[in-house]
Amino acid sequence: MQQKSQTHAVLITGSTSGIGLAIAHCFGRAGHHVMLHGLADSETARTLCNEFADYPGKVGFSSADISSEAGCAQLVSDTREAIGNPSVLINNAGIQHTAPAHEFPADKWHQILSINLSASFFLSRDLLPAMRASGWGRVINIASVHGLVASEHKSAYCAAKHGLVGLTKVLALENADCNITANAICPGWVETPLIQPQIENIARKQQVDLETARTELVGAKQPMARATNPQAIGELALYLCGEFAGTITGAALPVDGGWSAQ
Ligand SMILES: NC(=O)c1ccc[n+]([C@@H]2O[C@H](COP(=O)([O-])OP(=O)(O)OC[C@H]3O[C@@H](n4cnc5c(N)ncnc54)[C@H](O)[C@@H]3O)[C@@H](O)[C@H]2O)c1
Repeated sequence: MQQKSQTHAVLITGSTSGIGLAIAHCFGRAGHHVMLHGLADSETARTLCNEFADYPGKVGFSSADISSEAGCAQLVSDTREAIGNPSVLINNAGIQHTAPAHEFPADKWHQILSINLSASFFLSRDLLPAMRASGWGRVINIASVHGLVASEHKSAYCAAKHGLVGLTKVLALENADCNITANAICPGWVETPLIQPQIENIARKQQVDLETARTELVGAKQPMARATNPQAIGELALYLCGEFAGTITGAALPVDGGWSAQ
């Protein structure tokens, strides 16, 4: 049984900004070793790592592009070198592109499927054997409410996120014998750079200011018309690694202001 004070090595993909960075801070503050990752130059990486200097655990950084299997392997190797073998994998990196399916560019389709879905499979496949050998592990997939319901113009994103929820369930079943849980967190709107282009799009089309466009975007889908603070996702991920979450597995947990309850 996991001890309350145990320190874990935690890999968070896409942690240079938004939800991933907030998750990384939650784990860093809690004393865990944190592997930061994302598309960033060395100057940005240094600045980011400095933000973690006051936390007790180690911090590492990798800029591996995880849109390919080789990039995922690079990230695994960078992580092992910097903080040791991760017992917690948080698949968070993701991108978005919106267009109707009949106009959706093929390159965007492939990119979204690679980063939002396939990378989570490759990283899980490569890191699970060591988790299984040690008899403890956590896989947390940052899916989306779009892993549970659909919205128009998001064919690739919805396909990837529904796929990620399915992958999560399979990982939960296959690794239940080794004290490893796998769960998906399914946020609605979260206040991050990812949603900015969609806000600007509404502002441009409707000729309104950005604040009005933000309320319009969030309120169109969520009964609670406010975006979630990224730290809330970090605190939930931390809870899933804590001593009382040991039997939560195979779940897709909405944090969506009631969006998927409708
Ligand atoms: N923001 C929201 O409202 C929202 C809602 C539901 C789900 N999500 C999901 O949460 C996750 C994080 O979203 P966010 O809003 O924080 O995004 P963000 O744009 O702030 O951050 C995305 C991260 O992914 C990294 N990344 C992108 N492409 C990469 C690649 N090829 N290789 C390596 N790293 C790459 C970026 O460098 C960055 O660190 C995504 O999976 C997203 O789908 C976000």
